[in-house]
Amino acid sequence: DPELVAAGERVFKKCAACHQVGDNARNRSGPQLNGIVGRSAGTVEGFRYSGAMEEAGAEGLVWDHESLAGFLADPRGYLKGTKMSFAGLRSEEDIAAITAFLEAQGD
Ligand code: HEM
Repeated sequence: DPELVAAGERVFKKCAACHQVGDNARNRSGPQLNGIVGRSAGTVEGFRYSGAMEEAGAEGLVWDHESLAGFLADPRGYLKGTKMSFAGLRSEEDIAAITAFLEAQGD
């Protein structure tokens, strides 16, 4: 749904202080997020994660619609010990939109 992706691009402004996507995306204070949907948590090459994120990935956490919705609504509630200091997205619409936007960002 291109409208949802466009809405998600607007929501991504809240993430862009720490995350990049697209051509030449680099790890910043957060990992680059190309191809994040479908990826195991804590596995972007060259990024230094929290122990909590690495363990979650090792234990099988994969970023899909459901897990992203949980994490993005309340990062530190969903994943105790994460170093993503972001309050979370309150609106379910914003969460659906950002997930559609991230899904549209290839590897
Ligand atoms: C991790 C998304 C906002 C800093 C992550 C991960 C996702 C994500 C999916 C897991 C990455 C992985 O497993 O490879 C988002 C989205 C945001 C957002 C969609 C906006 C809605 C922010 C902001 C910051 C931030 C504003 C900085 C203040 C981080 C850090 C990590 C992370 C440091 C690594 C966490 C850890 O190792 O525990 N983010 N993020 N993020 N993000 Fe964000």
